[in-house]
Amino acid sequence: MRLLFTLILLSAFNLSAQEAPPPLTEYEGRVIAQTMHWKGAEWLMRRVREQEEGPSLMREQLQVKPGMVVCDMGCGSGYHTLPLAGMVGEKGKVYAVDAQPEMIEMLKQNIESKGLKNIVPITSLFHDPKLPPNTCDMILMVDVYHEFSHPVQMLAGMRAALKPGGQLVLVEYRAEDESVPIKPEHKMSKAQINKEMKANGFKLVREFDGLPWQHLMFFGKAEP
Ligand SMILES: C[S@@+](CC[C@H](N)C(=O)[O-])C[C@H]1O[C@@H](n2cnc3c(N)ncnc32)[C@H](O)[C@@H]1O
Repeated sequence: MRLLFTLILLSAFNLSAQEAPPPLTEYEGRVIAQTMHWKGAEWLMRRVREQEEGPSLMREQLQVKPGMVVCDMGCGSGYHTLPLAGMVGEKGKVYAVDAQPEMIEMLKQNIESKGLKNIVPITSLFHDPKLPPNTCDMILMVDVYHEFSHPVQMLAGMRAALKPGGQLVLVEYRAEDESVPIKPEHKMSKAQINKEMKANGFKLVREFDGLPWQHLMFFGKAEP
């Protein structure tokens, strides 16, 4: 009887330990944007994206080298994952992570059609990136961070997944620039990005201001 009671208690504890903390609607004075629905994935693959956002220029600025382990966090259907796989080469690896299983399914089809072997797709949780600890040289988030309903838990998980010297990279539409044709809650200012990263143990190490619509900011782990 006592054993049964203990087992019930343990399973109840396990369940509650896995439960997601409540999602936030605001963080550090910013309204959190709604997650982009997987049904809109075609927009991510639009032909004019190159012209509008300069994604090739963005990827050049990452300074990714063959053999690196890179994570494309919030990868969607793989717009950046596929070229990143070419950049890290056979000896490198790309963790492609998304919390919507439908996005990961589309990604898998894209990987298969290109015959790529160095991408590891991961269906994550909205509060847990599900990345192995101490594995990534770089974690890239393109148009993703502002959607996190659990920014603190996600940043802690990604911090743990970065190797020493690893970088967290944010690409966010510029809130300071009214000419960028994106809804306000899907944009972020540099000041807001810096504030949120600092609050979660990151420091700015590099930035690039030459993209047409977006900030490109590189963060390293701050000393505790
Ligand atoms: C606007 S899309 C950008 C997709 C891709 N990065 C690109 O540039 O094409 C945002 C993606 O982030 C994902 N996402 C949002 N919150 C997430 C979370 N907590 N963990 C993992 N993925 C998340 C969404 O499911 C969606 O696929």
